[in-house]
Amino acid sequence: MNLTELQAAESKLLLQTYERNPLLFVSGNGVHLRDEHGAEYLDLLSGIGVCALGYNHPAVTAAIAAQAAELIHTSNLFYTRGTTELALRLTELTGLDRVFFCNSGTEAWEAALKLARAHALMLRAEGKHIGTKFLALEHSFHGRTMGSVATTHKLKYREPFAPLAETDFVPFNDVAALRAAFSSQHCAIAIECIQGEGGINLVSEEFLTAARELCDSTGALLLLDEIQSGMGRTGKWCAYQHYDVMPDVTTLAKPLANGVPIGAMLCTDAAARAITPGMHGTTFGGNPLATATAISVIDEMKRANLLDHVATTGEYFLAELRALQAKHPAIVEVRGRGLMIGVELNNADLAKEILAGMLQQRIILNRTHETVLRFLPPYLITREHVDQTIAALDELLLAQTSAKLSVLSSK
Ligand SMILES: Cc1ncc(COP(=O)(O)O)c(C=O)c1O
Repeated sequence: MNLTELQAAESKLLLQTYERNPLLFVSGNGVHLRDEHGAEYLDLLSGIGVCALGYNHPAVTAAIAAQAAELIHTSNLFYTRGTTELALRLTELTGLDRVFFCNSGTEAWEAALKLARAHALMLRAEGKHIGTKFLALEHSFHGRTMGSVATTHKLKYREPFAPLAETDFVPFNDVAALRAAFSSQHCAIAIECIQGEGGINLVSEEFLTAARELCDSTGALLLLDEIQSGMGRTGKWCAYQHYDVMPDVTTLAKPLANGVPIGAMLCTDAAARAITPGMHGTTFGGNPLATATAISVIDEMKRANLLDHVATTGEYFLAELRALQAKHPAIVEVRGRGLMIGVELNNADLAKEILAGMLQQRIILNRTHETVLRFLPPYLITREHVDQTIAALDELLLAQTSAKLSVLSSK
């Protein structure tokens, strides 16, 4: 089927959850995607922060092929090597003690919320006063299952599915509001150290420290969602490692197996006490194919020293974008860490136009929170790719300004 035929068929066959760009990709290599006509696109989105090692990476492809030839799935009723070997790596990288494997980001987050509820139940049984509510942040995004939307701020994602688990929201980085809102009724505080869908917002050290202190004061769990910001995206394995704060629970997914579906919820031994056999589970979670792929991703990141590469390339990218900001008043702010970057523009229409213009120049990025251009490129991008991107953005922003000036002068 060609693109037109696919579009017609999909519109009748699929639940209409996404508005797709009219592009049909058939292969990828390195940091480039190739469409049905053979045209190459520089991908600065990596499947929304997933394909961190780009496309057709030899180490990942080899791991998938070898594991597929051995064993894809047996269920969690039996032992397989990959689960333990991946758990060993993840506990070392995160500093946490135990792992629950699942198949997506939202499942990992759902596991975190259920653990927080079970933990509070355990504390109540021990005579402590702790409730069942969650406390989350404005502009948060934690996924699409029922618990995840309960802790996600956007009304469009929440309202149609009410009633949801009770959640209070506080403004991002507002320590006073956090202190005022938190009480022993909350079983957990939920935070993304860098909000992704919310527009690339970096949590402050002060806010994270206050959240940790508040949790410690009642026994509530501090849940840090690293689904978008984790696994090296910010130049460290987890974004919380840029701070002097440890979570009780963290969640990983997107780049963990470079596109093979997997999620992981990690927690401390103290929190894990709340879960006993049968309380939670999943058929596919931690299967040999997904774990072998994730192991290949982690080992390749270490071998190629990619955390350093992400940190230095990210600094270069941010510096170049800030130089662009100095030239173009339409850029309100440049935010980010490592290769998780947002460029806030002064209006949503302009952001849309820039996105379309970049796509015409065969550079893929996306827009989040209406006005923010978001960059989540593969970790393999080089300075040359950054330079190509900056030149394209510069040209588009200049064209925008001159178009506006000519409209003004013709009035
Ligand atoms: C911070 C965060 N949490 C959770 C999710 C949900 O992950 P998934 O789409 O794999 O369910 C996302 C996805 O964008 C995310 O960015």
